[in-house]
Amino acid sequence: TKQPILIQGPMPIEAETFAERLENVEIEESGSTYKFYIGTVDDYPVIVSKTGKGMENAAAATAIAIEKYNPAAIINQGTSGGHDPELNVFDIVLGERTVNIGSLKTGDRAAGEGIEPTEWKPMDVMASEGSAGEDPNAEKARYYEGDPELLAAAQAVKDTYTKGKVVEGTIGSADVWNNEVDRIQWFHENFGTSVEEMESASVAMISKAYDVPYLAIRVLSNNKTNDGAYNADTAIANQEYVYEVVKQYISAM
Ligand code: 5AD
Repeated sequence: TKQPILIQGPMPIEAETFAERLENVEIEESGSTYKFYIGTVDDYPVIVSKTGKGMENAAAATAIAIEKYNPAAIINQGTSGGHDPELNVFDIVLGERTVNIGSLKTGDRAAGEGIEPTEWKPMDVMASEGSAGEDPNAEKARYYEGDPELLAAAQAVKDTYTKGKVVEGTIGSADVWNNEVDRIQWFHENFGTSVEEMESASVAMISKAYDVPYLAIRVLSNNKTNDGAYNADTAIANQEYVYEVVKQYISAM
C-alpha cells in the first residue's frame, strides 16, 4: 500500500475545507486535540490533520502522524501575519525556509540593568547536545529548507491561485502574536522573515528528525506592516490552493 500525504491545519477553519474534499473518509483521534481525516484524493491516500494551534500541538500532531501513518510527505498550511510590507492579505508564502523566532538568548544583564529585546540573539537548540546557553555555536538561527519536490509541485500550480500572489519566502514561527511593527521589522531584517505564525518551524524540526519531506504553505490573513486587516476567508483560499498542490504532487509521483 502507498504511503499517505499528510496535510496539516491548526484551526478548524484551516483544516475542514480540505477534509471535506477527501473521498472515503474515516476519522481517527489521538487524545482530545489531534484529529485525523483519513481518505483519498484521486485514489491516492491523503490524511488531513487538525493539529490545534501552537508549536507544541504542531510537534505532537506531527510525531503522532509519522509514528501511526508513516507519511510520504507533510504539508503544513494555514494563516499567517505579514512581516514583509510587499505582501498583502490573501498572498501565499511557500516556505523555502522555516525558522523558530521564539528560540532566543538574551543579553547578559545584572539586576537593575533592564530588558533589551533588540539585543537578543537567535538560539539553535539543535546545534549540539550540550547547553544551548553556553555553546557559542548555538548563537545562530536554524533554517529548515522546504523539500524541493514539494516546492516544485507548489510552483507548478501557482497560476491556479487568483486571489493574490504566490511567492517563495521565509516563515517564522513562535507562540507569539507580534503587534509591535518595530519588532516585526526587526525580525524581517534579522531573520529574513516574510510572515509569522505558530506552527511551521516546529513541524520542520520533527519532519527532519524522521527524514520526511516537508513544506509549509502559509497565506497572509493579516499584515500589520501595511495595515492589512485580518480576513478569515484566507484560510479557505489557502486550502483550495493546497488541494491543487497535492493533486500536482500526486500526479508527479
Ligand atoms: N501572528 C502569529 N500567528 C498568526 N496566525 C495568523 N496570523 C498570525 C500572526 N500575525 C496563525 C497561527 C496560529 C493562529 C493564531 O493563527 O499560526 O495557529
